[in-house]
Amino acid sequence: MPQKPLRLLDIGAGTGRDAACFAVQGHQVTAAEPTDAFRLAGMRLHAAHDIEWIDDGLPHLAALSGQDNAFDFVLLTGVWMHLDKAERMTAMPVLASLMAPGARLIMSLRHGPVPEGRRMFEVTGEETIDLAEAAGLSLLRKRYTESIQPENRANGVHWTMLAFRR
Ligand SMILES: C[S@@+](CC[C@H](N)C(=O)[O-])C[C@H]1O[C@@H](n2cnc3c(N)ncnc32)[C@H](O)[C@@H]1O
Repeated sequence: MPQKPLRLLDIGAGTGRDAACFAVQGHQVTAAEPTDAFRLAGMRLHAAHDIEWIDDGLPHLAALSGQDNAFDFVLLTGVWMHLDKAERMTAMPVLASLMAPGARLIMSLRHGPVPEGRRMFEVTGEETIDLAEAAGLSLLRKRYTESIQPENRANGVHWTMLAFRR
């Protein structure tokens, strides 16, 4: 993470744990969250922090259309596997277009059994890297980890962490 303040976009920000952490560090944070209950809770929880909350989601992020090159850092923590393949193919060029030259994209992908009632798809690191490279991004780092939650780990949940640069 560079030391200077960044324009940061947290997509699928949930209740804003990461968005608030970055806002506290002085970054200019936009948090996109399509689920009202999460977004409204995040706005309440982190009302003291300067976060721009938007009601929007992938694949199109329509509220941010026209904001090409607007962000230095884009975060997708535990979000990508909620998109089906067609949505992932649409979403990656949208992500790339929002990134300034040199900007970073950090993603974590969840693998393993899908909790009942959740809309989640199997994604692979390889597919994600291929999509990112086709959209003009370069892979900086790839790491596989087990879940840190004992129950999930026992059930075979594991994660791929990916970092890209535009
Ligand atoms: C596992 S939670 C992760 C939340 C947060 N990033 C975190 O790490 O705590 C997944 C989040 O993705 C959001 N989400 C689901 N589908 C999405 C989409 N198509 N675009 C953006 N966010 C989405 C959900 O509403 C939820 O907040």
